[in-house]
Amino acid sequence: MNLDVLRCPDCRGQLNPRATTLICANCGAAWPLREAIPVMYREPWVKGPDKLLRYFYDGVPRLHDPLVRYGLPLWQVGGTEDEIRQGYLRRLRLDALQPSAEPPRFLEVSVGSGASIGLVRNAAAAVPDMEYWGFDLSWGMMSLARERIRKSLQRPVSWVQGDAHALPFADDTFDRVLHVGGIGGFRDPALALAEMCRVAKPGAPIVVVDEQLDPNRPNGWWPRMWFRAVTFYDDRPHCPTEALPPGVTDVLEEQLSRFYYGLSFRAPA
Ligand SMILES: C[S@@+](CC[C@H](N)C(=O)[O-])C[C@H]1O[C@@H](n2cnc3c(N)ncnc32)[C@H](O)[C@@H]1O
Repeated sequence: MNLDVLRCPDCRGQLNPRATTLICANCGAAWPLREAIPVMYREPWVKGPDKLLRYFYDGVPRLHDPLVRYGLPLWQVGGTEDEIRQGYLRRLRLDALQPSAEPPRFLEVSVGSGASIGLVRNAAAAVPDMEYWGFDLSWGMMSLARERIRKSLQRPVSWVQGDAHALPFADDTFDRVLHVGGIGGFRDPALALAEMCRVAKPGAPIVVVDEQLDPNRPNGWWPRMWFRAVTFYDDRPHCPTEALPPGVTDVLEEQLSRFYYGLSFRAPA
């Protein structure tokens, strides 16, 4: 793991490895390593819906993938997982990445069980040395992602456990940032979006995907009932364009399926 990229979430100081911890060179905070993965958050930060949903993600992580693959098309009446994932992948503009002396860096905030990793790597085939950073709050979900990468013999991923509201990365670090499926349950989506912009390089494409019931098609009782059920923790599931920080450009809001929006933009220059 490239430690130059990591920062103390308390003060953004640089980190030095010491036995089973990372020590902040600035404030002295200690961040533990669990199975060699930096744990970069403190438990009191996890509140509200973040905490509630973590019971699901840590408790029954193996339910997530079958529900998305087989449940979602039934509930939203069409629109498969593959169609949704292809819909946001193209907005990442991975084909624009060129081989260079310094490998590009890709950050997936809330990597979950890692369903996007192989798709992103395939779409970025021109840069096989791209560093992939997988970040998530749930140890259970990240364990599934690690298992997926091990079994499919994909290139290694740099894993970090933490909270999207305090990304433990240096400013202007990533060439692409992706987030799928969590922001509607975050306690402060505007802060999470500002953090994604902070760690992205100026002008880097950022893509955020989550639930919004398509306002431009007729939605009968069946999809409306299921949409309410799968977004029970959010009183107004919607595309958070209004929460974007100042200075972002090329903002595009689109509906990827009946239940999912895609919000793409570039980090402030
Ligand atoms: C619906 S899953 C989506 C997983 C994956 N991105 C995908 O496309 O399948 C949402 C993920 O968001 C993560 N998450 C929830 N709150 C978070 C937070 N505050 N910081 C980072 N990740 C969080 C959960 O642990 C979970 O893995």
